[in-house]
Amino acid sequence: MKLTNALSVLVDLSYAFRVAFLPTLRDILHAPLLVFRPVQLSRLFMAHVWVFIGNTTDECYSSVKSGLLPDAHGVVLEIGAGRGHNIRYLDKTKVAKYVALEPNTRMHSEIRKAAAEVGFTEDAGTFVLLPYGAEETGLINSALGGPHTIDTIFSILTFCSVPNFENSIRPLVDQVLKPGGTLLFFEHVRSRRADVFWWQRFWTPIWAKVFDGCELGRPVDTIIEGLDMWERKEVTGIEGEDPETLFVHSIGRLTKVSTAA
Ligand SMILES: C[S@@+](CC[C@H](N)C(=O)[O-])C[C@H]1O[C@@H](n2cnc3c(N)ncnc32)[C@H](O)[C@@H]1O
Repeated sequence: MKLTNALSVLVDLSYAFRVAFLPTLRDILHAPLLVFRPVQLSRLFMAHVWVFIGNTTDECYSSVKSGLLPDAHGVVLEIGAGRGHNIRYLDKTKVAKYVALEPNTRMHSEIRKAAAEVGFTEDAGTFVLLPYGAEETGLINSALGGPHTIDTIFSILTFCSVPNFENSIRPLVDQVLKPGGTLLFFEHVRSRRADVFWWQRFWTPIWAKVFDGCELGRPVDTIIEGLDMWERKEVTGIEGEDPETLFVHSIGRLTKVSTAA
């Protein structure tokens, strides 16, 4: 593996610090106790970073999203909506309601704005914004009025940050998604190459601290595929993606079995 690939995250880290250090410092000066709350601090930093990296990432992967997200239908739940970049890829004629899950409340105003731009609003009952993590299935279901209310769950570059993913994905699919519902994802995943995976593991302790828990080599695709709840599953990569990249991606479309568990 080329050293430039192995060290590529240093470029991303240095960019992130350049754009987010000062705004984060300003927040700390306003609320000094933040220095004792590393999780909150990382979340704050991430909110500042995503102002810049969110746009570039969206541009970079817009063709993948355009091929995936128009499949979302009915009541749609986005996991980790960020700054609302993904809403405009939905086919509005197929979506009855858009529910955004975003634990980072710093991003909420942007999600609300992006949703309103395509016509999803709380007033019209077509938009709901929940400040929870994907692992908080109980809270999600209480807010939605009970289990099995969602026709489509989708996640774009977010499952990498959900704590204890191996255990939290099951209740999300089992209890929130309707029988016969769809899960769509586009995620960076564990590399199948041992040398690349070694570097993914090497960088994760630093990367996760800076980027709100994001784990570089998490086998999101394998974990999801391994759930025994699918009637249909299609998981692919990005054609022509550099096999040496630390950010190797996976695209998934899965249908839950039609009978309730
Ligand atoms: C890399 S950003 C991607 C944002 C958005 N999906 C996009 O494509 O622009 C990861 C997002 O996951 C959110 N996140 C972090 N932990 C989460 C959790 N436990 N559950 C749901 N979302 C989470 C972050 O706040 C952030 O908005």
